[in-house]
Amino acid sequence: MANLNLAVCSMMITTLAFTLFTTCDANNNKDDNPKLHIVYMGSLPETTNSYSPTSHHLNLLQRVLDGSSNPANSLVRSYKRSFNGFAAMLTNEQVAKLAEMEDVVSVFPSMTFQTQTTRSWDFLGFPKAVKRQPKSIESNLVVGVLDSGIWPESESFNDKVTGPVPEKWKGTCAGGKNFTCNKKLIGARFYVDDSARDGQGHGSHTASIAAGNYVDNVGFFGIAQGTARGAVPSARIAAYRICNAQGCAGAGILAAFDDAIDDGVDIISISVGTSFALPLAEDPIAIGAFHAMAKGILVSQSAGNNGPITASVSSIAPWLITVAANTIDRQIIDKVVLGNGNVLTGSSINTFKSNGMNIPIALINGNSTNCMDEFADQCKCLDKKLVEGKIVLCDTYNTGVPKDSGAAGAVVNEDTGNVGYVTLMPFVALPPKDYELIKSYRNSTKDPRAEILKSESARDRNAPKVATFSGRGPNSYISEILKPDVSAPGVDILAAYSPISTPTEDLVNDNRSVSYSILSGTSMSCPHVSGIATYVKSFHPDWSPAAIKSAILTSATPMVRSSVHDVGEYAYGSGQANPVQALNPGLVYDINKGDYVQMLCNSGYDNATVKLISGEVNPCKGAADRSLVRNLNYPTFAARVLPNVTFNISFGRTVTNVGLANSTYKVTITPNPEVKITVTPTILSFKALNENKWFVVNVSGKVPRKSVVISSIVWSDGTHNVRSPIVIDVSSGDQE
Ligand SMILES: *[C@@H]1O[C@H](CO)[C@@H](O)[C@H](O)[C@H]1NC(C)=O
Ligand SMILES: *[C@@H]1O[C@H](CO)[C@@H](O)[C@H](O)[C@H]1NC(C)=O
Ligand SMILES: *[C@@H]1O[C@H](CO)[C@@H](O)[C@H](O)[C@H]1NC(C)=O
Ligand SMILES: *[C@@H]1O[C@H](CO)[C@@H](O)[C@H](O)[C@H]1NC(C)=O
Ligand SMILES: *[C@@H]1O[C@H](CO)[C@@H](O)[C@H](O)[C@H]1NC(C)=O
Ligand SMILES: *[C@@H]1O[C@H](CO)[C@@H](O)[C@H](O)[C@H]1NC(C)=O
Ligand SMILES: *[C@@H]1O[C@H](CO)[C@@H](O)[C@H](O)[C@H]1NC(C)=O
Ligand SMILES: *[C@@H]1O[C@H](CO)[C@@H](O)[C@H](O)[C@H]1NC(C)=O
Ligand SMILES: *[C@@H]1O[C@H](CO)[C@@H](O)[C@H](O)[C@H]1NC(C)=O
Repeated sequence: MANLNLAVCSMMITTLAFTLFTTCDANNNKDDNPKLHIVYMGSLPETTNSYSPTSHHLNLLQRVLDGSSNPANSLVRSYKRSFNGFAAMLTNEQVAKLAEMEDVVSVFPSMTFQTQTTRSWDFLGFPKAVKRQPKSIESNLVVGVLDSGIWPESESFNDKVTGPVPEKWKGTCAGGKNFTCNKKLIGARFYVDDSARDGQGHGSHTASIAAGNYVDNVGFFGIAQGTARGAVPSARIAAYRICNAQGCAGAGILAAFDDAIDDGVDIISISVGTSFALPLAEDPIAIGAFHAMAKGILVSQSAGNNGPITASVSSIAPWLITVAANTIDRQIIDKVVLGNGNVLTGSSINTFKSNGMNIPIALINGNSTNCMDEFADQCKCLDKKLVEGKIVLCDTYNTGVPKDSGAAGAVVNEDTGNVGYVTLMPFVALPPKDYELIKSYRNSTKDPRAEILKSESARDRNAPKVATFSGRGPNSYISEILKPDVSAPGVDILAAYSPISTPTEDLVNDNRSVSYSILSGTSMSCPHVSGIATYVKSFHPDWSPAAIKSAILTSATPMVRSSVHDVGEYAYGSGQANPVQALNPGLVYDINKGDYVQMLCNSGYDNATVKLISGEVNPCKGAADRSLVRNLNYPTFAARVLPNVTFNISFGRTVTNVGLANSTYKVTITPNPEVKITVTPTILSFKALNENKWFVVNVSGKVPRKSVVISSIVWSDGTHNVRSPIVIDVSSGDQE
């Protein structure tokens, strides 16, 4: 049995518009009130004639409850359409008993996950006029979006140009009261509140990035005006509402996977996660995605927003595609004009027109009996008398207090890394160097004044750069699997929104209602890749989830590091996704369910546990061998070794020819002086489509210090360049 992790933590939506924090109270055993737990039982039996999952669930519960309680009162959800398990209110003692049972893979708390455009597609080299399959083909595909619901009346989801619902669709429109689907939005279900209607805006935003209609002439109060569009405007959307303003319960996330897989979605997009990685058997998204993969459905998940610290990527399962966020060439800037005529440029999404008003800058924030000077300088406490009607300077990023104290505007000290946040008032974040300039200007005159202009678009020649917030590798649990996998735009993205939310999601202080809004986060990059995967699938309907993922990874555009402190590949994986190239990758690294199952065996899960997960008898071929995990046919190469220890590691791979029948690929190695890399053989000659060829990459050496050694190989036939990074993490504490 997997270890029980009894920590109670909260998980999150991966947009930065949300306050992102995690509370993790180490569970103390003295408090043994029943809490919501998930009991994961793996695959459903192949023949379900005589098997009733719910009675099995009730029976297991009966065995751990004392005789007097009715198990039906503890059972919260049964998972029975696509995999097996249930959610129930359980005490620690009951958890321990259930975890010992042979039918059970894992028991873990149902944490609260939190949820974590348009120019972006042109930036990816994916213009409106891109080559597409006929509508009749693209419109057969369904993107399942697990998020905060959807605004069904949005122009992004109307069905003016959509044909009849695909016959294969088994889902339903159960969105609650006053919720109507159409031929574009063909399915809706909810697992929180009483409707699939999006109260936050996040779910409408992500769904429209993946598969929204083309909607011309939209913008955010004139900022970022243009055409909003998804990758696959003819594809269908099914919305599964798992999140509300409080977050997204693990038990509901798993229920949405259970439904979406059986409803018949083709791709799942989930911009939700934790602030830290979880073990595979205790992560509802990894579990749901495994069963999706087994049914041929690729799941795309956000990398998380806890960058740039090391190992902050929270999506780690090899069968998922994990998406980092990068900037695009359209940046949103905001200017502040000082009384002396100097202009400073910062970041914010400030919709407020200044009308040429030159407003006094508050000379001091402090000198109040109410607020300590230190808090006043940081705008954590401001005295109305001193700042009302003036612009305040704040040494740290703060918005609420300046607004509440009646300030006319705020200039804050913060390098947001080009990310603009929608603000409640005239507001600009200046990087420290420029913030010093406005402070010294304030010191230099008796009557300092400034004007904060409305935000505007500007060109960012440094794009794409991975956003500071984007979750970084390495993978905390499976060092052989490089995460994140790939990057996509996730900074200042304009897309559909919920008019009952507000652009800041502050329903008290913000009274703006919008149909399109600007958000940043790996939440926004994830649906770009979900859309690209759907686009690839429209051309290659028979490709496995791993083949689609391989096509996206090996054709990605290499990126450069954002800062000297960053290990590039831990920020962006293979690089920035390139939708047009991904259609025609030449070779793919395919992986089937059996390969993933063997990886689970090699990484330490025993036969009995893997049997439950995979539904196969005797799933593990031979004894567990950790060194074979790196032979999973992943399209990138990663390993962890010790410093000062000679290593000699070997990666076995198989590529499948999906390019030209008659083709010869030669390998090019980008050398790194720290290690020796060999590829055997160096030439692969194919005679037919779908032919497989095997090769080995060996990496050996001895690296004297902790570091990350990067290199790559490219297989090329002159037309297709099939690129894979190699990342050797030289650090302490691993199995090498
Ligand atoms: C249904 O929802 C729409 C969109 O919020 C709203 O305009 C309409 O008034 C609602 N109708 C009813 C009957 O509640
Ligand atoms: C601070 O307050 C004191 C008394 O309240 C006043 O005498 C002094 O001038 C104030 N200082 C500034 C810089 O406003
Ligand atoms: C502004 O003046 C204050 C008080 O004299 C001083 O402490 C501070 O260093 C000055 N700041 C700048 C940026 O000149
Ligand atoms: C929103 O509030 C502002 C003042 O805070 C007011 O000027 C404006 O008219 C309000 N807008 C709406 C749509 O109520
Ligand atoms: C699984 O069972 C087989 C056959 O009994 C055995 O050879 C193998 O060592 C087992 N593997 C694991 C990982 O438990
Ligand atoms: C790595 O090990 C293999 C055999 O295990 C050997 O053939 C090869 O020469 C070694 N390579 C290096 C560079 O030591
Ligand atoms: C493949 O190439 C070989 C020689 O390089 C040629 O004889 C053969 O006809 C080609 N086959 C096809 C299907 O083009
Ligand atoms: C690569 O490593 C494998 C396994 O250690 C070994 O059998 C093989 O000889 C090595 N090849 C080269 C070229 O070093
Ligand atoms: C590796 O060995 C060298 C030489 O003995 C030593 O200077 C260095 O500190 C060692 N590095 C680590 C990470 O232990």
